[in-house]
Amino acid sequence: MASSAEYLNGLFGLAGQTAVVIGGGGALGLCLGTGLGKAGAKIVVADCRKAQCDEAVARLKAEGIEAIGIEVNVTDKQSLRALRDEAIAWGGKVDMLVNCAGINAGTSFLDVDPEVWDKIMAVNLKGTMLSCQVFIEKMLTSGGGSILNIGSVNSDKPLSRVFAYAASKAGVVNLTANIAQEFAEKGIRCNAICPGFFPAEQNRRLLDEKRVENIMRGTPMRRYGDPNELVAAAILLLSKNAGSYITGAAFYVDGGFTCSWF
Ligand SMILES: NC(=O)c1ccc[n+]([C@@H]2O[C@H](COP(=O)([O-])OP(=O)(O)OC[C@H]3O[C@@H](n4cnc5c(N)ncnc54)[C@H](O)[C@@H]3O)[C@@H](O)[C@H]2O)c1
Repeated sequence: MASSAEYLNGLFGLAGQTAVVIGGGGALGLCLGTGLGKAGAKIVVADCRKAQCDEAVARLKAEGIEAIGIEVNVTDKQSLRALRDEAIAWGGKVDMLVNCAGINAGTSFLDVDPEVWDKIMAVNLKGTMLSCQVFIEKMLTSGGGSILNIGSVNSDKPLSRVFAYAASKAGVVNLTANIAQEFAEKGIRCNAICPGFFPAEQNRRLLDEKRVENIMRGTPMRRYGDPNELVAAAILLLSKNAGSYITGAAFYVDGGFTCSWF
């Protein structure tokens, strides 16, 4: 009989696989890249900010993880193709793709600026779609793959002051289900994690006293998430063995936010 370590490694181990983490220089992306790397994967950190990319690669390497950094702009298909081709040249193929780039901005509804709306939609929704398109093109001929998109608790529920962000994240969950259905028979799975509240650069400026109070009231666990608490869900959904029959899921990691009522 296999030891429990061998059994768990057979289910969740990612050795011999390459993951591209777009937005990998951000708070959640770095944490997910580190977790996938510790589970055995080689990691391509991709981000539009070179300094963050380099810093993330250095941190992964310090953990003993094989990693490279590549600059990318998710709103540009050519830039994504260049990322994909460089990632394949380095890793042999791309087994896993994590779409973790995202931006946000908060205003009252009547102050929503159409240009800001377009920018948020371009990065969060169109960027996720383009990235899936570009990587699936190659996954179709390289034995399949697994994609993890990042939704949000407001993929499902409204939150105040983040209208474009919410619409983009609802779109990401919808896109995820459509891709899952379209490519299931081709060996490509596509799932989403919908995180609750994990303070990071993009949302910290929205967190005034009133909002924090509302978040804590709405979160049954009465605390923020720690980015490390997303890692196990990501490994489950991305893993060929543990996640083999899971596709099209929107997996909420939110301290109970979406199940709370009063
Ligand atoms: N932090 C949270 O509480 C939370 C909750 C729900 C969902 N999310 C989502 O998780 C993802 C990661 O967010 P985070 O909290 O780590 O934020 P973050 O700002 O730390 O990271 C986002 C990363 O995306 C990169 N990025 C932005 N535009 C890009 C572009 N055009 N091309 C390539 N990269 C680009 C940024 O440089 C940054 O490194 C986002 O999609 C976000 O919407 C975050």
